[in-house]
Amino acid sequence: KEIVVSGIRPTGDLHLGNYFGAMKNFIAMQETHECYFFIADYHSLTTHPTPSDLHGNVRRVLANYLAAGIDPEKATLYLQSDIPQTAELYLFLNMNAYLGELSRCTSFKEKARQQPNNVNAGLLTYPTLMAADIIIHKAKKVPVGKDQEQHLEMTRQFANRFNRMYNVDFFPEPQAFNFGEQLVKIPGLDGSGKMGKSEGEGNAIFFTDEPKEIQKKVMRALTDSGPTEPNQLKPVYIENLFTLLKVVSASDVVTKFEEDYNNCAIRYGDMKKQLAADIIAFTEPMRDRIKSILSDDAYIRKVVNMGREKAAASASQTVQEVRDIIGIKKF
Ligand code: TYM
Repeated sequence: KEIVVSGIRPTGDLHLGNYFGAMKNFIAMQETHECYFFIADYHSLTTHPTPSDLHGNVRRVLANYLAAGIDPEKATLYLQSDIPQTAELYLFLNMNAYLGELSRCTSFKEKARQQPNNVNAGLLTYPTLMAADIIIHKAKKVPVGKDQEQHLEMTRQFANRFNRMYNVDFFPEPQAFNFGEQLVKIPGLDGSGKMGKSEGEGNAIFFTDEPKEIQKKVMRALTDSGPTEPNQLKPVYIENLFTLLKVVSASDVVTKFEEDYNNCAIRYGDMKKQLAADIIAFTEPMRDRIKSILSDDAYIRKVVNMGREKAAASASQTVQEVRDIIGIKKF
């Protein structure tokens, strides 16, 4: 079976961007691939969460994964920090990662702008830690959203560099993956950019949002008085609403609003009502499952223990071999 790895940072509950960019693929791939899915708690330390926030968010993300349909019997579901071998591989990769390439990375530049008083070394080496996560299991496919594309490019670079340096054919080249072929970028509700936690209040819809909250967020999305000519090009904020409609609504619903738009007969109020109703129908069962999983500590513990054991077996094998290749040998 082909090996798959992907992770999500524990920043709180998952939003529709996480789901349609990544998680939806996780759920499909666990049926056919050898999957390792994890909670990237080391990565989240770059933003200095408080210890209680960190622990609470790891628990929440774990419950979100399970509620969305990850089956811990099929996929290996684990915490990044439960596999300290990752930290060792990260150290090795850092010896071959250069300041130039790391500081040119788009996500680094963005973060450095967002947190100018905390441009720490972990932020700079974020891509080498991510590469370690992926190649520690020798993954071939990495289901992620469009925003992770550059990180995957860097992962390939680091993996190939290691192979060349030691003249081995050890790490495979991992590829960013999405079943719909193109990587996905789910837009936010504020009319610009992507859906994300740090993108501002009201921009993201979380699995745990109450129906009223979802309605409010959707109804507040920017629209205008509508097209004035048939088949007019859509402004970005309208295109974004259609993108959201396409991922949560039935195709005949999308077709109807597309036709209305092209005939200048669209009523954005109706479209947003439909969008909100479909998002609510999609998230409602998830919300109930998250609640019940969060109240079951024994189950959470069982899942975490099971994942740790399976992930550690694969990771320690790789790191042992890497040590050997590098020349760190047992006496
Ligand atoms: P993170 O936690 O920001 O996001 C988790 C996953 O959700 C996807 N995603 C989106 N996809 C489409 N549209 C959006 N608006 C959207 N927002 C988020 C992300 O692309 C991602 O797939 N660096 C990673 C975590 C990570 C990782 C890894 C991923 C650490 N190590 C190894 C894969 C493999 C991150 O911060 O994702």
